[in-house]
Amino acid sequence: MNIWPLTAEPAVSVGGVSLTEIAGRFGTPAYVVDEEHVRVRCREYAKAMAPHEVAYAAKAFWCRAMARWIAEEGLSLDVCSEGELAVARAGGFPADRILLHGIGKTPNELSAALGYGVGRIVVDSSGEVRQLAARSVAAPTGGRQKVLVRVTPGVDAHVHRAVTTGTEDQQFGLSIASGAAADVAHRILRQPSLELAGVHCHIGSQITSLDGFEAAARRLVAFMAGLGGLPELNLGGGHAVPYRPGEDGLDITAFAERVTSAVEQECAAHDIPVPRLTIEPGRAIIGAAGVTLYRVLAVKHGARTFVVVDGGMSDNPRPALYGSRYHIERAGARTTAGTEPVTVVGRHCEAGDVLVPDARLPADLRPGDLLTVPCTGAYHHAMASNYNHLTRPPVIAVHQGRAWPLIRRETAADMLHRDVG
Ligand code: LLP
Repeated sequence: MNIWPLTAEPAVSVGGVSLTEIAGRFGTPAYVVDEEHVRVRCREYAKAMAPHEVAYAAKAFWCRAMARWIAEEGLSLDVCSEGELAVARAGGFPADRILLHGIGKTPNELSAALGYGVGRIVVDSSGEVRQLAARSVAAPTGGRQKVLVRVTPGVDAHVHRAVTTGTEDQQFGLSIASGAAADVAHRILRQPSLELAGVHCHIGSQITSLDGFEAAARRLVAFMAGLGGLPELNLGGGHAVPYRPGEDGLDITAFAERVTSAVEQECAAHDIPVPRLTIEPGRAIIGAAGVTLYRVLAVKHGARTFVVVDGGMSDNPRPALYGSRYHIERAGARTTAGTEPVTVVGRHCEAGDVLVPDARLPADLRPGDLLTVPCTGAYHHAMASNYNHLTRPPVIAVHQGRAWPLIRRETAADMLHRDVG
């Protein structure tokens, strides 16, 4: 699997536009997103999973253009907040193809979701059932809201602790083992304004092995059998992509074959109809579609060589949060100079602001040079902050030789605009 966007000439251009030109026109740091890559990944996922459903997880990267691309490619959508729902609405995303998630949903969120008529709401706690039932009576969906129950299958996906969500000892979902999931399912069945459409689980993120997905699918089918069978089985997202050369991603064709046959077998064993499957990939759709551009601000020689760039943990908190590892290259300029080992750091006031601890970059690297980091489409802009009052970078789309901003660069004026005291 490739770490660069499908249309890229690695470290030189994306979508037919040179990285040097993008940096010149839009400044740095900047996130670049390849529209073609996003659309092709949507099609690959839809084709591998057909006739089942693929819902893009907006949390990975979200803006109105993305809403249009995803809608045009026929995918459904997973949102987890009022903010993500607002962007979906603004981008014209069809309400009936939206699922709303959330471990804790605010009253405003529930009202906004019901007001827009979202297709399904995923219930994550018992108190939510009454709140939803009361609100959905008055909703435009005609008083019967489809819901899923998020369950904890007790499956460990063996990924970073911060993104492990299928085991018993974490906050998401309702335990199958303890009986909490069945209890909430029965509460839903007693509410005339709610329709129990199915069950949901999400076992973690950046998962490379199919074993956890298969185990979860089997446990969820057994749970559904206890309820006499249900029409929908949602297995969440979590499909891995490679960040560095030689790393593995999850193969969607192998996933589809293994999971659908496990579900069919398990349904036959329990004598219930085969449900429609839904998966919710975020990173697998947008991760490798994005690259980040930085300018070198300083090169500091000492016990080791530090390369300081004009961004850091405010545009990419993942190394600091999860110990994530990245590939980095000088963009554009090719030289015959050899490479040397360097540590690429951000410009924040923290020793932990290390973007790439073990990079190899050209020995003649100097301030002003352009660097590029691939596979930064997912959970980068989405997790960016204003730490140290740095302004968040723009997101620049590229397609067929054209580059244009999807999200403009934040300014000091934007920050002062909120500073109302
Ligand atoms: N569905 C649900 C209910 C989720 O909670 C998530 C992600 C997804 C789908 C999409 O997962 P994906 O396919 O993108 O792995 N910030 C972390 C990732 C956190 C994922 C949270 N939930 C990171 O940067 O690696």
